[in-house]
Amino acid sequence: MNIKKSILALSLLSATQFATAGEVEVLHWWTSGGEAKSVAALKDMLEAQGHTWKDFAVAGGSGTSAMTVLKTRAVSGNPPAAAQIKGHDIQEWGGLGFLTNLDDVADQNKWEEKVPSLVTDIMKYDGEFVAVPVNVHRVNWLWANRDVFQKVGVKVPTTMDEFFVAGDKLKAAGIIPLAHGGQAWQDATVFEAVALDVLGSEDYRKAFVELDMDTLKGDKMVEAFRIFKKIHNYIDKNSPGRDWNIATSMVINGDAAMQIMGDWAKGEFTAAGKVAGKDYVCVPAPGTAGQFTHNVDSFAFFQLQDKENVKAQKALAATILTPEFQEVFNLNKGSIPVRMDADMSKFDSCAVDSMDTFKASAKSGDLVPSMAHGMSTTSYAQGAMYDVITNFFNDPKADPKEAAVKLAKAVKAAM
Ligand code: BGC
Repeated sequence: MNIKKSILALSLLSATQFATAGEVEVLHWWTSGGEAKSVAALKDMLEAQGHTWKDFAVAGGSGTSAMTVLKTRAVSGNPPAAAQIKGHDIQEWGGLGFLTNLDDVADQNKWEEKVPSLVTDIMKYDGEFVAVPVNVHRVNWLWANRDVFQKVGVKVPTTMDEFFVAGDKLKAAGIIPLAHGGQAWQDATVFEAVALDVLGSEDYRKAFVELDMDTLKGDKMVEAFRIFKKIHNYIDKNSPGRDWNIATSMVINGDAAMQIMGDWAKGEFTAAGKVAGKDYVCVPAPGTAGQFTHNVDSFAFFQLQDKENVKAQKALAATILTPEFQEVFNLNKGSIPVRMDADMSKFDSCAVDSMDTFKASAKSGDLVPSMAHGMSTTSYAQGAMYDVITNFFNDPKADPKEAAVKLAKAVKAAM
């Protein structure tokens, strides 16, 4: 169904279901080209039902700034109607008593039947739905500019060894091998991809989900830090502070050959009119074929007083899981629909591959939650890991063995 038709369908729905209109203020951090296009579809679909969308966008990849602003607003007793909150943070907000119960919307729209329990579990606090999932992002991807690889005559790497071989050739040809933005969350995104390869899914889970001290400081973690450090030789000196989407644009325009980033990067390729398989290639991050690091975006809903606004809030929650929104949003966002019955016929090869791997990895034990994106552990443990990873990456003298010990200590202190 195209967007016009789906808006029309939703307007008809609104006439019957939601007789009056309210306002919802929505906090999110989707401000890059691809992200803004994606969230605009939600605004359009809500407004087609007669409600008002008050945009509360706080720029900053991975939402670090957005979460700080949200805390200030909530503490002053004035939270938005909905906020992009995900993973473990949902539990933290639920525990503080801010979130509202969405079980009626969930029952009416049969969310339990449509969305895998791995995801619905994250959306519930104390057994009640308090958040709605938007998508599933795969984090362990490598994006490559096809022309650049063809010109230099190297193969897109599928292992870390191949990555370094390709990196040397690209460097010799005057191309930046890896586009990177030196921000803590981006460092952590690359690190967890390397760790997934070196540790394997089981030990990845032990380290980042169970926070097992022996695994956090073990030999495999030391090896992950060693490889991670080597990657520093393949990024450019202007990377510190760079936003992730600027790094993606370097791959799009051929200044850089690759980026290791979740599939929100694909949203930037799409917004730039680039086609998967033709202009760019997506492959699993080196050494992680068959493995899937998941990152589920979601909106958590806050308690509101005004009755009309509550209706608008519920309409927003219901809209998010409609097949129409799931399709248009995820086509733009680079992610896959969170409804497992989604029609994938309009999606490109990267998304189809992502959906297949998501389903297969759930069976093989290779579906793991992203540490870098708040899915594997608390924000406290995550923050502690960010610090160790970033400091290590930016200190040329840092020692991998010491880093692993520091990682375990920092996590322990945050537990
Ligand atoms: C979010 C994505 C977002 C990305 C960059 C991730 O943590 O899940 O939706 O596009 O950060 O901001």
